[in-house]
Amino acid sequence: MTFTREHGMSLNCKDLLGLEHLDKKDLQTILNSVKPFKSLFTRSVKKAPTLIGKTIVTLFYEPSTRTRTSFEIAAKRLSADVVNVAIDTSSVVKGESLIDTGKTLEAMKADYIIIRHSLAGAPDILARNLNASIINAGDGFHEHPTQGLLDLYTIYEKKKKIEGLKVLLVGDILHSRVAKSNIWALTKMGAKVAVASPPTLIPANIEDLGVKVYYNLDEAVKKADVVNILRIQLERQKENLFPSVHEYIELYQLTKERLAMARRDVLIMHPGPMNRGIEISSDVADSPNAVINEQVTNGIAVRMAVLYFLSPERKDASSN
Ligand code: CP
Repeated sequence: MTFTREHGMSLNCKDLLGLEHLDKKDLQTILNSVKPFKSLFTRSVKKAPTLIGKTIVTLFYEPSTRTRTSFEIAAKRLSADVVNVAIDTSSVVKGESLIDTGKTLEAMKADYIIIRHSLAGAPDILARNLNASIINAGDGFHEHPTQGLLDLYTIYEKKKKIEGLKVLLVGDILHSRVAKSNIWALTKMGAKVAVASPPTLIPANIEDLGVKVYYNLDEAVKKADVVNILRIQLERQKENLFPSVHEYIELYQLTKERLAMARRDVLIMHPGPMNRGIEISSDVADSPNAVINEQVTNGIAVRMAVLYFLSPERKDASSN
């Protein structure tokens, strides 16, 4: 394995900051490791002693339902102690810097800090300043690596492969850290990645990453093996990036009529939180093709695998 601190993702060393610099072998190793953790879910006692005695702190500067809860369950299933910092009632509101907050948590012997922050690069700042393992739970528009990994695993579990699959990401690619992590992981694994979105919500030069661009969802959806719908960030509507929500719905909502144009076995994914009736219609979200709840379940197993890969005991064993 070649995870390095310099490359921003270092399962073998310390931190998970992004998927950009992982190679195919690293990603395949993670995919292979998820199933044994998932098998724990069906046991009457859903716990393993892997992280007994370890302290994991979640430090979320932005709201979250899935990621924070999923990390907490994953950590508890590996027998770690988990502490959630409530930002609104912490010393952050008194002006404490990110590094000082991190150093304070490290002085309390936090072994892992799982951080979500509105600023891209915030996890990297902690990683460079602390000995604790830092896991990026979403930083600005940059990356959301564990979401990328759980999306990758869900596709792999359902389709039994990644290479050659046509994966379509629909929606606000420009502001989506989920899209960035998906693009890095899927292209490295040999998937054919496409995006469908209004031109104003697509990053410049995205084709350089090997991504095909569609502006017409009907055309794009017909060819896809997997359609991953992204949340329209309604808070961005004041930036006038598309004329109106009504027009977005007309052109880009995944409806049952559009689903009918797709392959019968197309997988419908959404990282959540969903705006039903905006980027996805309710009947599509609840259709047999949708694996949205399975993504959430897989998220726990994927995060258990990530915590395992970062654990000091495993690193000691792999260096022997
Ligand atoms: N997918 C995702 O990151 O969801 P949350 O914002 O609820 O964590």
